[in-house]
Amino acid sequence: MTTVLLLHGPNLNLLGEREPEVYGTATLNDHVARARATATPFGIEVEHLQSNHEGDLVEAVHGARNRCAAIIVNPGAFTHSSWALHDALASFDGPVVELHLSNPDAREPWRRTSVVAPVATGTISGFGGHGYELAVRAVAARLELPSS
Ligand code: DQA
Repeated sequence: MTTVLLLHGPNLNLLGEREPEVYGTATLNDHVARARATATPFGIEVEHLQSNHEGDLVEAVHGARNRCAAIIVNPGAFTHSSWALHDALASFDGPVVELHLSNPDAREPWRRTSVVAPVATGTISGFGGHGYELAVRAVAARLELPSS
């Protein structure tokens, strides 16, 4: 089994209720289930953590080192501010996918800077819940995992 860490940052526990016109009506559990359903045929187990606390996310990245094959991370607003998360992700050896439901580049100017992007293998944004499927497929392709 290949383990991939799926990480969600602050306020994403409120998905489904929070600004549905921006983030849609699916809940966080719906998105995690979608990622897991996409991952199963590739033999990928998705480990999931959501936290509103920066240190929890940093520690989850540390815990993934030498254990998880890849990280998919929607850092929420920490995307735009967390150099601590940037540094933690820089210490991780495998592919890192930065994932956003919305397209931050098409929103307020302050969302146009991502401090995570420089340490990500790539970024998927603006495709809503479909982004979870795209992110898992990107990881599987990068790790050269065949689908059953
Ligand atoms: C987000 C975009 C961020 O700018 C925002 O702070 C979020 C969600 C997204 O998934 O579109 O909380 O990461």
